[in-house]
Amino acid sequence: MENPLDLTSIDALQGNWNYPTTIRMGCGRLNELPFVCKSLGIRNPLLVTDAGLVGMTFVERAVELIKAEGMSVTLFSDVKSNPTGENIEQGVQVYKNGEHDGVIALGGGSGLDAGKAIALMSGQTHSIWDLEDIGSNWLRADPAGIAPIIAIPTTSGTGSEVGRASVILDEGAHVKKIIFHPSLMPKVVLADPEIVSGLPANLTAATGLDAFIHCLEAYCAPGYHPLADGIALEGMRLIKTWLPEAVSNGNNLTARSHMMVASSMGATAFQKGLGGVHALAHPLGALYDAHHGLLNAILLPYVLVRNREAIEGRIAHVATCIGIKETTFDGFMAWLAHFREQLNIPDTLAEIGITAEDSEKVGRMAFDDPSASGNPIELSAEEYALSFRNAVDGIL
Ligand SMILES: [Fe+2]
Repeated sequence: MENPLDLTSIDALQGNWNYPTTIRMGCGRLNELPFVCKSLGIRNPLLVTDAGLVGMTFVERAVELIKAEGMSVTLFSDVKSNPTGENIEQGVQVYKNGEHDGVIALGGGSGLDAGKAIALMSGQTHSIWDLEDIGSNWLRADPAGIAPIIAIPTTSGTGSEVGRASVILDEGAHVKKIIFHPSLMPKVVLADPEIVSGLPANLTAATGLDAFIHCLEAYCAPGYHPLADGIALEGMRLIKTWLPEAVSNGNNLTARSHMMVASSMGATAFQKGLGGVHALAHPLGALYDAHHGLLNAILLPYVLVRNREAIEGRIAHVATCIGIKETTFDGFMAWLAHFREQLNIPDTLAEIGITAEDSEKVGRMAFDDPSASGNPIELSAEEYALSFRNAVDGIL
């Protein structure tokens, strides 16, 4: 925790940044919500969050703040933890019926992704599935029909507040689909670490490791992208330094601040690409309704060993940059095992009730997942199936 590279005074942990979008970062910044709405010409926002967050103080506070400025606001919370196409359709209907002029997406991945998707679909004639992230499908969308988005993250992991995609479950096909459009990038992010301070330890750990894996997969993804690589390395260092403290002492706002920024850094970096961990976590999330961050956290070492040949040098460099004593692939893996244990992450998928029964199907779905294209080596469906079985059984 006492890292000379990090500021620790909470007063200093404030900033107004403009990349990858406008970010207002710091404790208490939620109070700026009415000003931000007005700055974007929003007078009647639809506030989208997931069902689990209704009744939380910060949701009520967001509504009060807007009403206190004489604006109207409607709360839409009919959003599952893995938001579905139907959730989005209903939200769009509420948006149209209420003649709203912008979306406040508030939540972890679910609330943020749903809010962004509702904003995207608020003025389209296509089905949401026509805008799946394949080829140049996004060109089908009418940019004039996309509502402005304000994002307020309530966890530190998904990074969806600075992402240009939403992950939406196609219930009919049991597939999580990535919906992409450059204008899904929120216009303004209000990053207020006080909102995250009540997040339970297990969710703090799982979401924080998701952010770590965004950085790691982006850093190992093929292609020349030093901007993403630099952000990824510093993101991992912050998470290594501050996640254990955020988990054991959720009220430490210094730790929460660093984690909140690191989460946005992960999603900024993964514009470069993700990889095999996410390629497996997406189908598993769709088939077993398991927590995305937790799935990634469990899968990580099993995918790293499969990719070893291609990433040994890169992982050694990660170890150097984030301050691991033994700066080799094996040194990194030993540290990772300790880090996961410290954060109470199960060793195997079996421990969260997932069996290897559907391994062939999972392997095929992982192979087809858009994240697979960022894996450092091309893995076959059979190889994904094998990594999945190893993660069920704990074979490294
Ligand atoms: Fe993720």
